[in-house]
Amino acid sequence: MNILAVESSCDETAVAIVRDGREVLVDCIASQVDLHKVYGGVVPEIASRKHVEAIYGLADKALEKTGLTRDDIDAVAVTYAPGLIGAVLVGVNFAKAAAMAMGKPLIPVHHIRGHIAANYLAFPELKPPFLCLVVSGGHTMIVEVEDYTKMRILGTTLDDAAGECFDKVGRVLGMPYPGGAAMDRAAQCGDDKKYPMPRPKPGENPYDMSFSGLKTAALNTIHHAQQIQEELDINSLSASFTSAVSDMLVPRVVQALKETGHKKLAVAGGVAANSRIRKDIMDAAEKLGVHVFLPPLSLCGDNAAMIGAQGYYEYLAGNTAGMDLNAYATKSILGEKL
Ligand code: KG4
Ligand code: ZN
Repeated sequence: MNILAVESSCDETAVAIVRDGREVLVDCIASQVDLHKVYGGVVPEIASRKHVEAIYGLADKALEKTGLTRDDIDAVAVTYAPGLIGAVLVGVNFAKAAAMAMGKPLIPVHHIRGHIAANYLAFPELKPPFLCLVVSGGHTMIVEVEDYTKMRILGTTLDDAAGECFDKVGRVLGMPYPGGAAMDRAAQCGDDKKYPMPRPKPGENPYDMSFSGLKTAALNTIHHAQQIQEELDINSLSASFTSAVSDMLVPRVVQALKETGHKKLAVAGGVAANSRIRKDIMDAAEKLGVHVFLPPLSLCGDNAAMIGAQGYYEYLAGNTAGMDLNAYATKSILGEKL
């Protein structure tokens, strides 16, 4: 089954064709990052307009690159939530038009389910059940993937997402948007103990997380250095911050693995590209005898192939939509029936 997949929830316009949920025939991405860099973050209206400009051309390019025609496409999958609402609407409307014109089913895909499914593309042997740590720009959660379309959230951030904090701290450090990757590089040359950072235990649920206090602590450290005109060691600030983020994530994942007994751990989302977090997860999992699935960096960030992968399993579960499909800025990954 060939699925034409569309992703436009933030600042990447992407169209992919994925076969049977596992094989990427083509994955075309038009990144807008350079446009938004000047503003230090994504400007929603610019993002929507650029999606409108790029999306039709990308779909043509995807067909052209594979040599497939519209008749070879069996369904159209699209990110319908969550994301910048204007941006998501562009993809949803394009996908509706494409599905209607081709007379093929329309499959709505939750963006975070897509991130998890990026692992199916990277690891053909991976099948549920498994535990998944989702760390992206907008979400941070520990999810039990009981089946391809059946999930249970064990814990989640109670305030900011990890990626959001990387971007905010990176911006104040003068790094280009998005700050996560730049902080990752800086941290590799820094001392992670130089600037003490908080490691709070929020709420009653041991798997819940919190990043806003950590973000504030990092920003206060930067501003304090500026006030007393002391030179800030950016590399060490990045390393200290990253180590605190990792300490918020990894011990909770370890506890979840122990308590659920899962022997497979997948990691998903843009922050899964972070080298320190990747290493800490690998080390912890090795001690537990748990098999870790860490997608290649190209599949950690936003792409349409992951939407095509999850779209296949949503289709098998009967989760298709009509032409009244709407877009949503926020939506839980648990909404099973649409
Ligand atoms: O999953 P994603 O591409 O988009 C969302 O769905 O949010 O994640 C983007 C986030 C951004 O906050 C970006 O700074 C972060 O992933 N990121 C990183 C790294 N690469 C991307 N954070 C830390 N270290 C990295 N190497
Ligand atoms: Zn994403």
